Amino acid sequence: MSETPATKPKFNRKSPLLAKLKRAELLTGGCDEKATWHFDIDLLGSGLEYTPGDSLAVLPQNDPALVEELLSALGFSGEEAVPNPAKEEVPLRQALVESYVITTPDKKLLAAIAERSTGGAEWAPLLEAEKKADLAGFLWGREVIDLLLAHPEAKFEPAEFVGLLKKLNVRLYSIASSQAAKPDEVHLTVAVVEYESLGRKRQGVCSSWLAERIDDTTDIPCFVTPGKGFRLPEPDEETPVIMCGPGTGIAPFRAFLQERKAAGAKGPAWLFFGEIHEDTCYFYREEWDGYLADGTLDKVTTAWSRDQGEKVYVQHKIVEEGAEFWAWLERGAIFYVCGDAERMAPDVDRALHQIIAEHGGMGAEDAAAYVEQMKADKRYRRDVY
Ligand SMILES: Cc1cc2nc3c(=O)[nH]c(=O)nc-3n(C[C@H](O)[C@H](O)[C@H](O)COP(=O)(O)OP(=O)(O)OC[C@H]3O[C@@H](n4cnc5c(N)ncnc54)[C@H](O)[C@@H]3O)c2cc1C
Ligand SMILES: NC(=O)c1ccc[n+]([C@@H]2O[C@H](COP(=O)([O-])OP(=O)(O)OC[C@H]3O[C@@H](n4cnc5c(N)ncnc54)[C@H](OP(=O)(O)O)[C@@H]3O)[C@@H](O)[C@H]2O)c1
Repeated sequence: MSETPATKPKFNRKSPLLAKLKRAELLTGGCDEKATWHFDIDLLGSGLEYTPGDSLAVLPQNDPALVEELLSALGFSGEEAVPNPAKEEVPLRQALVESYVITTPDKKLLAAIAERSTGGAEWAPLLEAEKKADLAGFLWGREVIDLLLAHPEAKFEPAEFVGLLKKLNVRLYSIASSQAAKPDEVHLTVAVVEYESLGRKRQGVCSSWLAERIDDTTDIPCFVTPGKGFRLPEPDEETPVIMCGPGTGIAPFRAFLQERKAAGAKGPAWLFFGEIHEDTCYFYREEWDGYLADGTLDKVTTAWSRDQGEKVYVQHKIVEEGAEFWAWLERGAIFYVCGDAERMAPDVDRALHQIIAEHGGMGAEDAAAYVEQMKADKRYRRDVY
């Protein structure tokens, strides 16, 4: 099992590849509850290399409409010269679109608005170090624009304002392709973060930039970040693999399966996928059907959370299929989990303990020890976010 990239990456944070979009496809067509996109990014002639299990770091741009709102709230034209994080002078509008975090406020900005506000800002008492959790609670669903609109009396010089903002940073996306199958492309599966708060529609910076504001002429600054140990066994090993990737968690397993097909991997493979509706959100269905037909995949198990009255999630299916799952584990299977860290991964972990206890005839302590041994043997690998 190769854990490290063969060569030092050619592109990095300071010197990213400027790639172009080749194809975009909405994977959730007909579903009005979420938007998840598939992207093919062109690598032709770039020399960018990756391994299934790696992620692509993407540096996005902010929404220009939000930038205009900020400029108007601040009373700026946008033409004012300000330093960008590289200390070059650029127009304020450009700096706000390209270089600074204009959604989540930094503590420096919160303090500066509070100092300049006439009646005192409601968040001022939360700036104490010990009030960190309360501040996070207050800021959940609040952005820089909300703070400025709440305190129009707080005035700034343009350069001073950008000095109170953090540098815009990359977002990571699990790579959804294998260069064994797609040598000149890198594929991503991206869910658009969208929610409403304080009466405004909000969008995640990078997911909405990729889904709504780029085309095939836009430079996409990107580089590869290696997947720490999220690697396939060697193709000639008989080791079974069980992959659990609900939602966008499916991405690395598409890469794994492309790689396994290209390499003629020997061991059996089982995929668990979950989404909200089977008819509109069954990402890459034809590909899985093809892999089932040609033997790249042995089994696909799905969980559709909103197709019936009660929620059905991947962990329920793992428990339902517990006897077979346990048999695969006893044959030395590696269990991979990718996707939501907060809710899904802990629930899947509980299901894993449950089936080991039930089908292995163990008490809770022995089941926990079995899981620990799986981790020590690198047979339980998670890439969750
Ligand atoms: C290793 C790794 C792999 C990843 N792979 C993928 C992948 O394959 N596909 C994928 O889509 N994502 C993936 N992600 C997540 C991805 O990196 C981004 O975090 C995600 O796309 C959101 O980024 P954004 O810029 O669109 O949103 P941001 O601008 O970063 O906004 C997200 C923030 O919005 C706020 N927020 C979100 N929902 C709400 C709400 N309901 N109420 C109030 N505030 C809210 C929260 O503060 C949240 O942190 C991965 C992350 C990691 C670390
Ligand atoms: N901050 C959060 O609370 C939170 C939660 C989830 C996702 N996210 C983020 O939202 C983005 C998109 O997520 P995504 O589209 O990849 O998928 P997702 O929101 O995780 O949804 C994929 C599937 O998983 C189901 N699901 C929800 N809770 C689950 C649980 N406890 N166990 C197993 N499955 C569960 C969902 O069902 P239902 O939606 O019908 O319940 C849906 O069918 C990601 O960036 C992710 O990090 C954030």
